[in-house]
This record gives sequence, C-alpha cells and structure tokens, in this order.
Amino acid sequence: MNTQLEPHMKSTENTAFAPGWYTIAASQDVRPKPKRFLLNGLPIVTFRDATGRSVALLDRCSHRNAPLSAGRVVAGNIECHYHGWQFDGAGECKAIPGLCGASEHGARRVPSFACRESQGWVWVYSQAGVVPDSEPYEIPFADQPGYLTIRQRLEMPGPLDAVAENALDVPHTAFVHSGLFRKNADRKPLEVVIRALDGGAEAQYIGEQRPEGLAGRLLAPQGGEVLHWDRFLLPCIAQVEYRLSDRTHIVATTALTPRTPHVTDLFATVAVKAPIPNAILRGVVKPVAMRILRQDMEILRRQTEQVERFGGEEFASTEIDVLGLRIKKLLREAASGKVGPLQEERRIKMLV
Ligand code: FES
Ligand SMILES: [Fe+2]
Repeated sequence: MNTQLEPHMKSTENTAFAPGWYTIAASQDVRPKPKRFLLNGLPIVTFRDATGRSVALLDRCSHRNAPLSAGRVVAGNIECHYHGWQFDGAGECKAIPGLCGASEHGARRVPSFACRESQGWVWVYSQAGVVPDSEPYEIPFADQPGYLTIRQRLEMPGPLDAVAENALDVPHTAFVHSGLFRKNADRKPLEVVIRALDGGAEAQYIGEQRPEGLAGRLLAPQGGEVLHWDRFLLPCIAQVEYRLSDRTHIVATTALTPRTPHVTDLFATVAVKAPIPNAILRGVVKPVAMRILRQDMEILRRQTEQVERFGGEEFASTEIDVLGLRIKKLLREAASGKVGPLQEERRIKMLV
C-alpha cells in the first residue's frame, strides 16, 4: 500500500462557507412562535406567517436592533418586543405603534432569506434578499414506498468540513465504532474509486465484504459482498449509501449547517429498505444509528478541542483519507466563486 504522505496542511482560517441551501430545523419545530438559529454565526429568526408558510428574517429589528426572536407573532407578522414594530414574512414593516401620519414602512424593512419546506425539513438560502436559482437538495429514497425513514437532529462539535469528513471516513470506523461496523483485525483489501461529481465528490468502494459488526449482521445476515458509496455535495450534504443485498438498501443523508466556527448542526435522514417489518427495523436502526452518531460526536469534540488548543489545524493526510481534502477544496472554491477544473478519477487500494 502506498503510504506516502501528502504535504502537511496547516490552517488557522475558519472553514470556507459556501453559498446555498442549508437545513435549519425540522418542519414540526417551526411554529408560529419565533425561533432563533445561527447560520455561520448570523442570527436568523424563523416563524410561520399568516399563510402558515415558514419564513426566515435576519434576527435584528431595523429600529433599534433588538432580536425579533424575543418577540411574538401577531396575525402572521413578527412583533418586536421593544417598541412593537411589526414585520411580515418578507421582512416588510407593517406597523409602527404610535406613529401618526404617513409612514415609509418600506424603508424600514428587515432582510429576508428564501425559505422552503421539503421532506420534513426547513431550509434557508444562505444569502439575504436573493432569489435562488436552485431548490434545496432532494434527499433520495426518503419516504419512498418500501423505505423506512428516520430523521434526527444533533449538534456536532467541529466545523462543517470536519463533520462531513467524519461522516464519510472509513478508516475511523474500526476504532471509534469498534464492534458496530468493522474490527481492526482480519482486514481485506478493496479498491476505492474517487471521482468528481457536479458540485461534489464520491468514493465508491469495490469488493467490500459485508461489515462484520452488529449493524451489518442484523441487516444482511447472509453476508457477501456489498456496494458502498460515500458522497459529499456542495454546500452541505454528506451521504453514505449501502446496498447490502437486493433487498437491503440504506441511504444515510446528513445535511450539515455551520452554526459557529466550532459547532455544526447535523440533520440526518436515514432511508432503509430491508426484509424486516418496519417496527423491528426502526427498533434496530435508530439505536444503532444514535450510538454511531454519539461516538462520532465524542471524537469530534476531542478533535475540535485540540484544534482550538493548538490554535489551528495541522493535518497530515494519506491517500486513504479519501474525501477530506476534496471537501475542503470544494468548499473553498464554492465560497470564493473560483471553481477549478474537475479533479481526475483516482483508484486506490485500502485494507478494510
Ligand atoms: S427595537 Fe424593535 S421596535 Fe424598537
Ligand atoms: Fe463515524
């Protein structure tokens, strides 16, 4: 195996923030009551307007900058709790209590963000006042007939690129998730094809045996070879797809939303098809998925603390760190608007 190190990378910059759609909440969690969240450090307030649509505004009253999220929603408009100015879902100022005569409410608007509800999640577009030329990512197989769909939100320590790399990284599974996926013994060689996608990158694992751990044995008791892809798609999607047999298919899609430079919200949608009744499948998949996510959360917490303590990253990579550097590059290019040529397909060998 080629273990030649790629050049060390040292960076103290924050992770690049790529424009696009980001998940902010589960649909059921957006209510008429205003709710504040952070998108890359920016406070945004979401609520349901008079038509019941979820909407998103900058969480800063245009009058004296009080947080609108501390106010309430009155007839579909958000009312600031300081002097009672009201704004509709588009950020238009609709009322200024006590003001006599004509008012130029239009000049006092609050920036609004495009907002959509799709597949159980609420998404916002990252730039205020922009009419996006795209729609939020469509999560494959979610809620399709024959698929059990499980959704879960978690707060992960670390920047988006670290959380995405962790979600798509095979070598850590034998250690962090020992016994659930793979063990660090009896490794077998397999081939990985790493290819560029339109706005993303994919690693396809060829010749992989069904993982020996608990998760694999429950879902594919017959064993054998499995098909496995890991994908990153700009700006925020990390996806793991397994076909364990003709009848067993898992697509775990996580939408990652940077809250601050060191915290990323993870919105997971796991779509599973298996020859097991849904009630049993749910009873198996959800606890295993939660255990995996909590183990990842713990190692990400330790990694993030280290990076902060040492004042930045100093990462050494080998070719079996298959997607991490590509994720950083894709984010940098998307954030700067300077997209380079597609990277060539690469094939490597790995012991898994
Ligand atoms: S600060 Fe919001 S109404 Fe005055
Ligand atoms: Fe993991």
